[in-house]
Amino acid sequence: MSWGLQNRLAHIIKPKNNRTVMLAIDHGYFLGPTTGLEKPRKTIEPIRDYADTLMLTRGILRTSVDPLCSTPIVLRVSGGTSILSPLSNEGISVDMEEAIRLNVSGVALSIFVGSEHERQSLLNLTKLVDQGERYGIPVLAVTAVGREMTRDSRYLGLCCRIAAELGAHIVKTYYCEGFEKVVENCPVPIVIAGGKKVPERDALQLAYQAIQCGACGVDMGRNIFQCENPAAMIQAVRAIVHENKNVGEAYDLFESLRRNY
Ligand code: R5P
Repeated sequence: MSWGLQNRLAHIIKPKNNRTVMLAIDHGYFLGPTTGLEKPRKTIEPIRDYADTLMLTRGILRTSVDPLCSTPIVLRVSGGTSILSPLSNEGISVDMEEAIRLNVSGVALSIFVGSEHERQSLLNLTKLVDQGERYGIPVLAVTAVGREMTRDSRYLGLCCRIAAELGAHIVKTYYCEGFEKVVENCPVPIVIAGGKKVPERDALQLAYQAIQCGACGVDMGRNIFQCENPAAMIQAVRAIVHENKNVGEAYDLFESLRRNY
């Protein structure tokens, strides 16, 4: 790994404990004005300093994040589809030069294993990895899950391993039963998505279990920004990821912070 690539990776995954709390706010790239992100700046500003990394699109980065913000950025660079069309038909949507101009610490792209456009999405990944290696930019592969796919350890293990084999430096996937096997069989760090909004304790439980199984952190979106108190929730997630708190302790923290904001 080149010095630049290692250095950028260390912005995303904190070297002190090899953990990360990424805040995913890229949903609009195919969902449009997602609940909780209608006014992105209003959502992002109060919580961005609690995130180790922001994962978002260039449009939201330019319009809704202060350029003086020091939180590292992982830029979503795949797209080209909407919720109204087959989602797997993505291409690479941002040039690597533009990513460098935006001074990002990494780029993210979805792969759609088992879908109609599996090959295309996997070759998008290999192209991006080639460019990332050229310029020292880490690539995060998101294992997107179509409605027809079962989110079990066999399927997610397949997706994560393929992403790593094709050169991804970090993989983002979903927590599932037997998740430790998914982690064991993937030679690069794994972060988990939060999925759709669930009660806070359940979301904290998900983060806790993923960490126990060997994930290096979370790349969580809706369970933070759709929470009635996002700042309290992200701090509770941090307590699990960075301070090894259990679910009860993290939930108590959430409750006490929630009352104070
Ligand atoms: C989906 O492909 C996007 O990358 C989202 O960022 C991802 O689903 C994570 O967000 P959430 O925790 O809301 O599932």
